[in-house]
Formats: sequence, structure tokens, C-alpha cells
Amino acid sequence: MVVPGELVEVATAAMLELFPDGFAELGRADATELVAFTDEAGAERLRARFGDVRVEPVPDGWEKAWMRFHRPVEIGSLWIGPPWERPTPGLEPVVIDPGLAFGTGAHPTTNLCIELLHTLERASLLDVGSGSGVIAIAARKLGYEPVAAIDLDEAAVEATRRNAAANGVAVEAELLEAGAGTIPEAEVVVANIDLRTISRLKPPARCRVLVTSGYYGGERPEVAGFARADRLARAQWSADLFRRE
Ligand SMILES: C[S@@+](CC[C@H](N)C(=O)[O-])C[C@H]1O[C@@H](n2cnc3c(N)ncnc32)[C@H](O)[C@@H]1O
Repeated sequence: MVVPGELVEVATAAMLELFPDGFAELGRADATELVAFTDEAGAERLRARFGDVRVEPVPDGWEKAWMRFHRPVEIGSLWIGPPWERPTPGLEPVVIDPGLAFGTGAHPTTNLCIELLHTLERASLLDVGSGSGVIAIAARKLGYEPVAAIDLDEAAVEATRRNAAANGVAVEAELLEAGAGTIPEAEVVVANIDLRTISRLKPPARCRVLVTSGYYGGERPEVAGFARADRLARAQWSADLFRRE
């Protein structure tokens, strides 16, 4: 179902109640498409809750169904898309097969982080909560070096390593939980996670620029020792650029 920006927060909360194991959110310019892979009983629950929903049959396995929603996006100088699509000539391709990890590149929060990375001075970079590795790989293709990535999910670390290799770039991916201790050193840190984790985040000593996202427009994280320098918004999502004070 397609939900206008002002209703997405409420609709997303309702979807989470109906489908606690997950559903897809696909960003558009001024709306968000919410997609659940479910059976007829699930479709009925959706109709009962939302009334007007679109139901389509999908091929075997939700992973295959999910692939239909993995559409390429163009962000600045980068084309980000799945292996079966043809990159736009003239743009640098970032080819992502997320497997079981989060991150096709199409989510507004990922887009906003990568947009901000286009504007910053190139330096060493750490992607906190790398999912499929899309931000780390995009950063490497934009000239950030060296690039490291951490995630608390083993499938994400595996996907980051696999996608980095497939794109021919070096990304040092590690299984590590941010907030539980120290995180690797980098001058630029990107964290597209969630408001709670970002509020607990302790950027490493050398970090001078922090890019955060993963929360709604009405939410404004604060990070000790850093001042907000810029804020971008898309659909109902936001991203912040912080600089060390
Ligand atoms: C919203 S996804 C973003 C993935 C990717 N960066 C992107 O933009 O598509 C957040 C990721 O952060 C990871 N994560 C959540 N909390 C974390 C923590 N405390 N430390 C490290 N990774 C975390 C999750 O496993 C997930 O892969």
C-alpha cells in the first residue's frame, strides 16, 4: 500500500504490530510503499486494518518476491542496484545483493546518508550498522579510504564482505555491537541505525564528522561533543550531519 508522508509513522507502527517478523518500506519522493509478504489470512488482517490495500501473488519464497522490489536508485555520481539490472552509463555502479541483510540502497535513510557523503572531505570512514554494506561500498567508490564496517548481525557482516568483493573494493567488515564498547577509529563515522542506538553512540577519538539516520523527521538525536551542522529530510525520514565541537 502507498502511504503519504504524514501518515507513514502511524502506518508503519501498525504494520509492525501485524508483521513483527518484518515488512518492506520503499521510499518514494513524497510517499512510502509498505509491502508485506504474507498469506490470505495476513491479507485479510491488512484489509481489516487499512481497508484499501493492493494484493498480488508472488513466486515461491519471499526472498524472490523481495527481489522484485529491489529497484536501482541514482544518488549523485552513484548508481545503486541489484546484479540483474544494468547500471546507468556515466554513473559509478554499486551492485548490491542484500541476501538476508538490510539494505538495497533504496531506503530514504540510506539515500540521505550517501547524499551527505557526497558533500564531505574524503577521509577514513566507519559504517556502523552496515547491513548489506551499501553505505560502506558507496563511500569507498566516492573515494573514502580506508573504509571499515561493523554490524551486530552475522548475516550483515557476511553480506558486507560479499558485496565489497563483488564490487572490487576493500571494506574491513567486523562483527561488533556499537554502544557496547569501543568501535574502530575513523575520521568520518556513518550510523544509519535507530534513534536509541545513536543516542548511546560514542564516536571514536579521531572522529570529527558524524552522519546519522534511521529515525523520523520529528526526532532529533544529540551526540555528546558534537554539534549539528546540517539536516536532510525525505518522506518522513531524516539524516543529520554532526561536527566535533
Ligand atoms: C537500518 S539497517 C541499515 C543498513 C545499511 N547501513 C543501509 O543503510 O542500508 C541497520 C543495521 O544496523 C545493525 N545494528 C543495529 N544495532 C546495532 C548496533 N548496536 N551495533 C552494530 N550494528 C547494529 C542492524 O543489524 C542492521 O544491519
